[in-house]
Amino acid sequence: MELLKLKYVKFFKCHVSYLVSICVFLFVMVLIFRTLLLPSPFPFGRFKNNEFEWNHVRMKFLEVPQIVWGLNNQKIAFARACLTARMLNRSLLMPSLSASLFYKEIDRLEPISFDKVFNFERFNSLCDGFVRVSRYSDIGNRSNVIEVQKGSGRRWTLERDLDQLKEFSKKDYDAYETIRVVGKNPFLWHDHWPVSDYAKVFECLVLVDEISKEANEVVSKIREFGSEVKNGSSSYRTPYLAIHMRIEKDWMIHCKNRERRSNLTNICSSKEEITTRVANIPALKPPTTLYLAVANELLEDDSILNGWKEGMHPVDKKRLGFNEIYKNYSYLIQAAIDYEVCLKADVFVGNSYSTFSSLLVLERTQKIIKTGISHACGNNVRWPSYAYNIEGESGGPQLWMTNLSDSSLQAISYGSNSVSCRIV
Ligand SMILES: *[C@@H]1O[C@H](CO)[C@@H](O)[C@H](O)[C@H]1NC(C)=O
Ligand SMILES: *[C@@H]1O[C@H](CO)[C@@H](O)[C@H](O)[C@H]1NC(C)=O
Ligand SMILES: *[C@@H]1O[C@H](CO)[C@@H](O)[C@H](O)[C@H]1NC(C)=O
Ligand SMILES: *[C@@H]1O[C@H](CO)[C@@H](O)[C@H](O)[C@H]1NC(C)=O
Ligand SMILES: *[C@@H]1O[C@H](CO)[C@@H](O)[C@H](O)[C@H]1NC(C)=O
Ligand SMILES: *[C@@H]1O[C@H](CO)[C@@H](O)[C@H](O)[C@H]1NC(C)=O
Repeated sequence: MELLKLKYVKFFKCHVSYLVSICVFLFVMVLIFRTLLLPSPFPFGRFKNNEFEWNHVRMKFLEVPQIVWGLNNQKIAFARACLTARMLNRSLLMPSLSASLFYKEIDRLEPISFDKVFNFERFNSLCDGFVRVSRYSDIGNRSNVIEVQKGSGRRWTLERDLDQLKEFSKKDYDAYETIRVVGKNPFLWHDHWPVSDYAKVFECLVLVDEISKEANEVVSKIREFGSEVKNGSSSYRTPYLAIHMRIEKDWMIHCKNRERRSNLTNICSSKEEITTRVANIPALKPPTTLYLAVANELLEDDSILNGWKEGMHPVDKKRLGFNEIYKNYSYLIQAAIDYEVCLKADVFVGNSYSTFSSLLVLERTQKIIKTGISHACGNNVRWPSYAYNIEGESGGPQLWMTNLSDSSLQAISYGSNSVSCRIV
């Protein structure tokens, strides 16, 4: 009996190892054939840049010209490039942003890589399935490129631009690994997408740690200042209003010209108008901290800290002791820090003709919607925003929310005086 069992086990073992050998042999043969037939060591795909890529889904790319101008023009241009890539079913090759304000310093464009400002991995994980950014090192064959010239001029209409995009989404162009758009920077391209698509892209733009750390530093200094000015007895935290004051010389010249051209009178606001309207915001109880987000040239002028209503305590970067650290950064990073500080404010007050203000209100509106509020913007919403250049109730600034159902970004990229106060 024992012997029989042993024999049986022996036979079985032998049989199993025979089977295993055959399997291993077959597997090795398959691998050898695959390797000979395909440049891939894995049966169904291959690893490339730590990503497993299925053989039948080769990644294709879109390359765009350097992105220029102000921080928020650059964000809009970037989103437009992403949405173009999405339409072409391609991944956007990480574009160069510009660290300096292009229209002031043409000779010092200072390209800065996207991932020096925004977190690359976070972007792709948050926007997964919608749009995607790739590194140049992901490209397989750098000469497999087709160049596309974006049209320009009066005769290059919205329809022609859309037709061009449709043409390049066709299968015929699948053979080209990269489509390279040449010509105008993406901010100047025609717009074919609803506000909600842009909003989705903006949501995926998270600052790199180094920059968000600096922004948090400013916010905690503002909070510290707030607890110093607070009445001893009150227990709640002093709220801070961020005011994006566009009153520097360049802006005043620009906005006066615009008022003349468009026959409007409510684009420019003087400092007096801003202080009066802010003083009249109905829902605010003193004390409050006012964070004045102003152009650098105004930091030299201490008078912007004077003239505010009693109980409203103004600070700027200089008074917070942040000016020296701030000066170390390029224009783009400075603007990104200021943007973040305004985004986190309890209340934001800006100019409806400024792209910076408009994009902030868009993001703050998204924040409000996420809390479940979807209809009105009353004085009692959390994180309210106002436009100081438009008079609202009781002589205060106009409450301001972005209409996320708008069909184009026009109002946000070029400014508007119709600041919707109802989200549909
Ligand atoms: C988009 O590209 C992916 C591969 O990159 C492919 O699987 C998919 O079928 C394409 N979709 C369209 C609509 O062409
Ligand atoms: C790269 O693309 C070019 C243009 O399509 C082609 O001529 C060339 O053979 C490709 N090189 C490789 C290694 O596939
Ligand atoms: C500008 O607007 C005013 C009223 O707001 C109007 O009376 C005037 O005719 C307009 N001028 C032009 C050139 O449109
Ligand atoms: C706090 O002080 C301000 C003046 O700075 C005053 O107007 C306000 O009534 C005070 N509030 C409380 C709760 O004491
Ligand atoms: C600014 O940068 C310089 C050189 O990069 C450095 O030595 C200095 O400590 C920085 N200043 C601040 C306030 O961070
Ligand atoms: C928001 O935009 C949509 C689409 O353009 C429009 O129908 C709606 O009236 C707008 N809502 C407000 C409050 O402006």
